[in-house]
Amino acid sequence: MTNEEKQSLIDLANEARRRAYVPYSKYPVGAALRTKSGRLYTGVNVENAAYPQTMCAERIAIFKAVSEGETEFEIIAVVTNNGGSPCGGCRQVMAEFGLDTIVLMANGRGELVNESTVNDLLPGAFTPKHLTV
Ligand code: THU
Repeated sequence: MTNEEKQSLIDLANEARRRAYVPYSKYPVGAALRTKSGRLYTGVNVENAAYPQTMCAERIAIFKAVSEGETEFEIIAVVTNNGGSPCGGCRQVMAEFGLDTIVLMANGRGELVNESTVNDLLPGAFTPKHLTV
């Protein structure tokens, strides 16, 4: 994937971020996921007055893709105000679908702050292969 393609994925996540529903944390997160087939899915964090029912942007993007039949991911961009990295729960959900998925972390100006893989973000991940007997 070219730098231009990475930047457009970051820009897509940042545009989605405007739709984050964050009345409590005021910390909008946007995600944009590209599948190996080239499809794009965005997600935003959606908070709830019952705080634990909040859902992260990354998981919404991934669940949208899976619910449309897409389970092979190439890359996901995550945009926050300060370039924050995906939470542990989101790393685990990413790991379910492949440790080689690239993860881009960008700030609110759309600048790439960090690039990694799911494997590097979650070493020793518990994956579907651990459930095979
Ligand atoms: N959040 C995400 O959307 N993704 C992450 O990986 C980290 C946290 C959201 C959850 C909550 O709405 C807000 O950021 C503050 O934790």
